[in-house]
Order: sequence, then C-alpha cells, then structure tokens
Amino acid sequence: MSQIDVLAVGGIDVDLVLTVPRLPSHDEKVLGELVGRLPGGTVANFACAASRLGLQVTSFSNVGDDEGGRIVIEGFEQFGVDTSLIRVREDTETHFTVILVDPTGERAIVVVPTFRDKYPLDVAAGVLPDTRVMYMMPQDHEQFLALARLAHTHGAEVMIDVEPTVGARRATLERLLAQTDIASFNQDGFKAATGHAPSVEAARELLDWGPHTVVVTRGKAGALAVTRDGSAEHPGFRVSVVDSTGAGDTFNAAFLAATLRGEPLAERLRFANAAAAISVTAMGPRGRLPALDEIETFLETASATTPNT
Ligand SMILES: Nc1ncnc2c1ncn2[C@@H]1O[C@H](COP(=O)(O)OP(=O)(O)OP(=O)(O)O)[C@@H](O)[C@H]1O
Ligand SMILES: [Mg+2]
Repeated sequence: MSQIDVLAVGGIDVDLVLTVPRLPSHDEKVLGELVGRLPGGTVANFACAASRLGLQVTSFSNVGDDEGGRIVIEGFEQFGVDTSLIRVREDTETHFTVILVDPTGERAIVVVPTFRDKYPLDVAAGVLPDTRVMYMMPQDHEQFLALARLAHTHGAEVMIDVEPTVGARRATLERLLAQTDIASFNQDGFKAATGHAPSVEAARELLDWGPHTVVVTRGKAGALAVTRDGSAEHPGFRVSVVDSTGAGDTFNAAFLAATLRGEPLAERLRFANAAAAISVTAMGPRGRLPALDEIETFLETASATTPNT
C-alpha cells in the first residue's frame, strides 16, 4: 500500500432526498417526490473534499451488499477516494438517511444506522504505518479510542470532528482528547461538550487534555483555532449561500490540507474558510468541492470583499 495522507474512518451513508409540499406533522400524510439517492455521510463528504484538494485519501468503512453500497463506492470513485478498505457486508443494508426538504429549503432528517460499524484493528494496523492522519467522528467512543491508540503506536496523527451527536460530556471528552492531535468542533458540538460558548480562551483549556490544535467553526461567522504556540480567528467570507450542508466537512478537509503543507495557523484558517465558503454556493454537500487553484483564485478576489463579522 502506498502512502496514505488521510485514513477516513466510517461516516458513510446514502441520503434518500425527497421534496415535500410541507414537512408532515403528527398523523399527517403528504406526497413526496424523489430527488435521488445520493452518497453522503460526514466523514465521506470530508474524504471527497480532501481528495479534491490533492490529498491521498482512503476510506476505511463498511457498506451493505446493496444499491446503497454501490452508490457510496461510486461516489468515492468520482472524487478519487481509495475504496480498497471498504468492507462489503452481505448481512446488512448500507446506513441511510431520509431527508425531507420543503419549498423553503427547511429540512427534516431521519438518520438510520443499520448496524454497528466494525473497524478491524488488524486491517488498520496494516495501513497505519503508511498513514499521516486518521480522521474520524468519534461517535463510537471505545472503537475510536482503540483505533486512535493504534494510530499513535504507528506514528500517525489523529483528527476528530465533534458535533453534538458525538455525545461527549466533560469526562468523555477528556478521554477522547487524550488520543487526539487535532480536534475540530462545530459551535453546537463545542457548547455541548464543554458547556462554554466558543472562544479562544475556552478552546485553549482543551489543549491541556492532549490535542496540539483545537478548532471551532462558527457557521458564517467563520472559525477560531488555538495551538500551543498561539491562536487565530478568521471571519467567514461573504457568498451567496445555496446550501450549507457539509460546510464543516469541507472546512476540516481544507484545514488539514493546509496543516499538512506546514502553513501558519492564520493562513490555515483563511484557506479553510475560503474552501467552505465556496462549497456552500451549490446544492448538496458535494455540489461544489473546490480544488486548490479555485481557492487561490477565490482568495485573490475575496481579499477585496468585506468578510462577514
Ligand atoms: N453562510 C455561510 N457563509 C460563508 N461561509 C460559511 C457559511 N456557513 C458555513 N460557512 C463556512 O463553513 C464553515 C463550517 O460551517 P459550520 O460551522 O456551520 O459547520 P457545521 O456545523 O459542521 O456544518 P455541517 O455539519 O453542515 O458541515 C464555517 O467555519 C465557515 O467557514
Ligand atoms: Mg459538521
């Protein structure tokens, strides 16, 4: 196996997207229209965004032997994500999510985890020596900890995405961060896990628990980050928003790409905000995942625009 920049663990599903005249209320039936079955999942969207930015990305995940599984794999292939470590399981269906969209763009979402993902440690041990960063949303705390310890044994770094579904309160968060190098929170994930509103001071406290970098994304307000050497904040860029689903995943991919290039913290935030801003200008989480040159062009003109505050 050649060098892997990012081993993207799990986080795949198929999105069944339906438009409805209005989101049905209790005991109500409405007529829906199928938009499509689209490959999705937060880590999977991150993986596609990272691959677009030139990183060598391998997905380490499970799918069912069904149409959903084929959609997930084809989706990865379109973005050049390596699928050789995806296990096709005959005993189950691929995870799916039902997304109802009303005419105003408001959504109602039902996530259907069809089975408990398993990530065999012997398979991971085979590739981690050649891996720079393992990326995961640590919803399964124990499996994350086992994989993260293994990653560190083999010299790979560990990056996590923390949103409220990770279910990390203080004590759990401390255990997760002890095995994390880069922790990226969205605003609600940060509040749920730490009990604090995002701030440089509150983020800095988390460095004591293990990570060398803590990032918090704040929607159109941009993002802040702290490391042991300093901190930076960057507002979001002003763009015409079409759909912000997956913005955080694109942000994380770009932040990691700039980190692996060894760029200074302020530049990493600027680059990641730009990548995410571009991604929200099209429909769907993979509607417009930018390549490097597109971000550079955006930044040349974006410097003339007033960022959001
Ligand atoms: N309306 C917007 N305008 C410009 N940039 C945006 C906007 N919304 C999000 N972004 C960019 O995307 C980044 C991540 O957004 P956000 O904090 O909402 O992540 P998230 O909650 O993880 O979203 P998701 O889970 O849908 O990916 C922000 O830091 C910002 O750079
Ligand atoms: Mg997110």
